[in-house]
Amino acid sequence: MDGAEMKKNCAKAALGYIQNNTVIGLGGGSTISHLIDLIRIEKLDVRVVTPSFQTKMRCLEKGLHVIPTFSVDRIAIAFDGCDEVDAQLHALKSGGGIHTKEKLIGTMADTYILLADESKFAETLAFKHPVCLEILEDALSYVEKEVRVLGGEPCLRRSNAKDGITVSDYGHLLMDVRFSNVQNIKQLDHDLNHIAGVVDTSLFVGVANKALIAGESGIRVVEK
Ligand code: 5RP
Repeated sequence: MDGAEMKKNCAKAALGYIQNNTVIGLGGGSTISHLIDLIRIEKLDVRVVTPSFQTKMRCLEKGLHVIPTFSVDRIAIAFDGCDEVDAQLHALKSGGGIHTKEKLIGTMADTYILLADESKFAETLAFKHPVCLEILEDALSYVEKEVRVLGGEPCLRRSNAKDGITVSDYGHLLMDVRFSNVQNIKQLDHDLNHIAGVVDTSLFVGVANKALIAGESGIRVVEK
């Protein structure tokens, strides 16, 4: 089975958790795209909030009802992809740079489910990906100094344009921080979140309730 088939299977398993007449959260990525297709095929009557512009466009193309996140105070269930997830449901979501809103939606949801394949799962997060920090511009040098104290190697995220700086949807800077040899993930999460000027990080600790892990032999549900 190739990776695309696994993602489709993961989306099929996710579909079973969605109830009609609810507000659902849909994050970004290819597995979520498959889930959007299935919601459309099954004609589920849901309202969608999303942190992702691409997901919003895909939902609208498929005729799904997208509403602003600020208009709801509760989300029944939310789904998202991730870059790495472990047996404690700690996750890294570094690529998209939209983790602040992803975490908001995940936290607002009664149930937040990560969708991944086996290649992204490990007993303990390996930090193959950097932790992305959304930071206030004025805090740039200070945050660089503080993450080095924590053992991280910071790198400001840049766009393809010459000397271009990538900014988040909220207009903040994005700083990718590489960590090796992380001994205590919860402590790292705490320490990063307590650096002044850090809006949020792409390390998700205590946010997800479940992960659906797609493998050759089917879907494995990981929960604490
Ligand atoms: C980016 C993410 C995405 O949700 C994730 O990369 C999507 O993965 P896939 O395309 O395999 O579903 O966390 O940081």
